Amino acid sequence: MRRMTRREFHRMTMMSAIAAAGAEALGHARSLSQLMAIQRIDGSRLTARLAALSAFGRNPQGGVSRVAYSDADKAARATVMDWMRDATLEPSIDFAANIIGRRAGSSASLPPLLFGSHIDSVPEGGNFDGDVGSVAAIEVARWLAEQRVTTRHPLEVTIWSNEEGGIIGSRAVSGQLATAELANVSSSGKTIADGIRFLGGDPSRLAAVKRAKGSIAGYFELHIEQGGILDTAGIKVGIVEGIVGIRQWDVTIEGFANHAGTTPMNQRHDAMLAAARFIEMVNRVVTSEPGRQVGTVGRLQAWPGAPNVIPGKVICSLELRDLDDAKVARLFDRIKTEAVAIGALNQTTFSYTPLHENVAAPSDPRMRGIIADAAKALGLSTRVMPSGAGHDAQALAQLGPMGMIFIPSVGGISHAPKEFSNAADIVNGANVLLGAVLAADRAI
Ligand code: GLV
Ligand code: MN
Ligand code: MN
Repeated sequence: MRRMTRREFHRMTMMSAIAAAGAEALGHARSLSQLMAIQRIDGSRLTARLAALSAFGRNPQGGVSRVAYSDADKAARATVMDWMRDATLEPSIDFAANIIGRRAGSSASLPPLLFGSHIDSVPEGGNFDGDVGSVAAIEVARWLAEQRVTTRHPLEVTIWSNEEGGIIGSRAVSGQLATAELANVSSSGKTIADGIRFLGGDPSRLAAVKRAKGSIAGYFELHIEQGGILDTAGIKVGIVEGIVGIRQWDVTIEGFANHAGTTPMNQRHDAMLAAARFIEMVNRVVTSEPGRQVGTVGRLQAWPGAPNVIPGKVICSLELRDLDDAKVARLFDRIKTEAVAIGALNQTTFSYTPLHENVAAPSDPRMRGIIADAAKALGLSTRVMPSGAGHDAQALAQLGPMGMIFIPSVGGISHAPKEFSNAADIVNGANVLLGAVLAADRAI
């Protein structure tokens, strides 16, 4: 007899889990081939809904500017809640303005299994970041409803609020959101507190959304890679080994505003010049040691902001990321020390206001194995890889086992209107999510 290939073996293992889930719910056994045929989400509805979502906040470049707490965000959320109702989920908005769509399991005593993503975007963002995982999660729920499959665990499809502004909704749930952050001004112009209220949450009651460690069975998130590793290598599915820690600050540089025509060059306390030296220094410090750490100054504003006035004050952002939180802390210390020397060059001062911190999060080895099996059952190539982008999954990793599925981003472009993923890859990712949810429901 011919020995089974590795792929056939994985496929059989996965299919038997799926077969058992289906059989349990339907009360009769289905053959492997029948289940193979039905274990597919509706790819054309998925891609049509992604296209429909892209109309909310569409920008002239063809992407979206659907920043959290904007009118476009609110309108898109209403549509997504309708899609959840179609999938017989019962959506509600929690106090942190997360949308949670619930589906009962057969065992009420088991903790819920969560999966989802976000639908807010960066300013001038693309149509795939967050949207793919959100719409796919709803399609998975819809498949379960159509196939009349009841999972053991209760399921929750989660659309987290304000992911791009510092995974705000998911960190409220993991208990990592500091009260002081509520006063920060988001990209919408609203404070986070006002934004949460605008979407139907209640920032004064965030303590009630906090969940305890161990209170979830697990969390899966499907997402575009946002980098070019999978696309370049021609690999279909990334299995995330961990998500980088991210720390952000507002850096205030104080000098002295003065006349740009009458103040000699050697008598200026030019905050903008200090900012320019600071930006160059951040790049030098971050690249001075081996590793995948990154550092960015992505926002800068000068006061009073006139061509004929030497800037007296600049506020710029500083962001540092790495899988090792200790490395990020070390780099920040070096940057602060070097900034003091930069300030001494023209009598300017630097001070730092933390914006937020997402701690680095490894994924769970069992969840990685489940994703690998689900991908193999579908004949999809995989690679284990880190995530340089932040995700709600890193907050959920504080509560229970977390697994993330990546699909290729064409050209590695993201956070830009040209962000793109192929429909076939998106549908593959959604089917891997479906297989992983079914398998995890049985295994954990
Ligand atoms: C979120 O997309 C981030 O990585 O900033
Ligand atoms: Mn995202
Ligand atoms: Mn993003």
